[in-house]
Amino acid sequence: MTEKDFILKNTNTNSLKTGSFSWQSPSNIALVKYWGKSEPQIPKNTSISFTLNKCHTNTTLEFFKKEIPSDDFNIKVIFENKVNDEFKPKIEQFFKRIVKYVPFITEYNFVIKTQNSFPHSSGIASSASGMSALALCLMSLEKKLNPSVTEKYFKQKASFLARLGSGSAARSIEGELIVWGEHQEIPNSSDLYGIKFLYPIHENFKNYHDTILLVDKGEKQVSSTVGHDLMHGHPFAQQRFEQAKKNISAISKILQNGNLEAFVKLVESEALTLHAMMLTSDPYFILMKSNTLKIIENIWEFRNKTKSNICFTLDAGANVHVLFPEREKKKVNAFIIRDLVPLCQNNQYICDKVGLGARQF
Ligand code: DP6
Repeated sequence: MTEKDFILKNTNTNSLKTGSFSWQSPSNIALVKYWGKSEPQIPKNTSISFTLNKCHTNTTLEFFKKEIPSDDFNIKVIFENKVNDEFKPKIEQFFKRIVKYVPFITEYNFVIKTQNSFPHSSGIASSASGMSALALCLMSLEKKLNPSVTEKYFKQKASFLARLGSGSAARSIEGELIVWGEHQEIPNSSDLYGIKFLYPIHENFKNYHDTILLVDKGEKQVSSTVGHDLMHGHPFAQQRFEQAKKNISAISKILQNGNLEAFVKLVESEALTLHAMMLTSDPYFILMKSNTLKIIENIWEFRNKTKSNICFTLDAGANVHVLFPEREKKKVNAFIIRDLVPLCQNNQYICDKVGLGARQF
C-alpha cells in the first residue's frame, strides 16, 4: 500500500447528519524502540511492541453535520467528563495532517469524549491509545459513508491515520506484537502503518506480563516530539538506527525460537540505548530517577539469584515496565510487591499483560 491508497475521494455526506462511534484502544510497550523520525511521521528505524491489555483509552466520537459549510475544524474535547481545551491543539494538528485522507472531517462538528483506564499524568503515555482510538472512530465514520471498506483496509488505514497523530499509535490497533517501519526481513512491513508480527510466536511469549511501576508521575521533561527531534544531528544517530535494524532481525528470531535469555538482553539494551540517546543529545536529559535505578538493580539481583527471566524496559520517562513470562508470575509478583512497589510513587503500579488490540463498544 502506498500513501495514495489512503486518499478518500467523492464521499457524499448528505445522508449522514449525526451519530457517534466508540472505540477502546490499548497502549503498547516497545521492545525495539522508535526514536527519531522525519516528516510526515516516518520512523528512522523499525520498531516492534507488545500491545497491552488493561492500559487503554475509551473514546466516543459524536458528529453533527455543519449547517454552514466551512473548511475549519470544529472540535470539542471532553476528557474524563470535563471540557478540556488542553488536548485541542494536538487534535487540531492531527486533523490538519489527516484531512487529505478523510476529507469528510471538514463537514462535521465533533465532540470527542475520552478517558483513560490508567491515572491521568501517571507518566504513562496516552498518545498511543488516545490517537489510535480517535483514528478508529474516524474510520468507523468513513465506513459508514463508504460501506465497501474492507476489514483489512479499515485496520491499515486506522493505523496509518493514528501514525499521523502519534508515531507509536500506529502500533495500537491490533495485538499481540506489532511491527512498524520497513524492514527487509519482515515482509509487508511499512513506514506508513503497523502490521501484525506475521511469524508464529513461541509459547514463552504468550500472555507475557508487563507490570508498570509508577516511579515518577511528574510532567514529562521532554515531550516525545522534542525527543525525536534531538536525533537530527545527534552524533550517534546513524549507529543507533543501524543497531535497531539488527535488533529487529534478532528479536524476530527470538520471538519464534523462545530464547528468553536473548530476549532479556536485547530488550534491556534497547531501553538503556533509548536513554543513552537522551543522555548524549544536545541539550541532554536524564529521565530516570534514583528509584528507576534502584528498581533496575533489584531486578538484576533477583534475576541472578533466582535464574528468573524477568527484565525491564523504559519509555521516555522514569517509570519501569517489568516484563516476565506467564509461568513465572507467582514468584515475580511476590518479588515485585515486596521489593519494587515500595520504590514507586505512592506505591502505585499497574499489572498488565499482552493484549489483542482495539475493540469497538
Ligand atoms: C520512547 O509515538 O510518543 O515511547 O510520534 O512524536 O507522537 P510522536 O512520538 P511517540 O514516541 C514514542 C517513543 C517511545 C518508544 C516507542 O514507543 O517506540
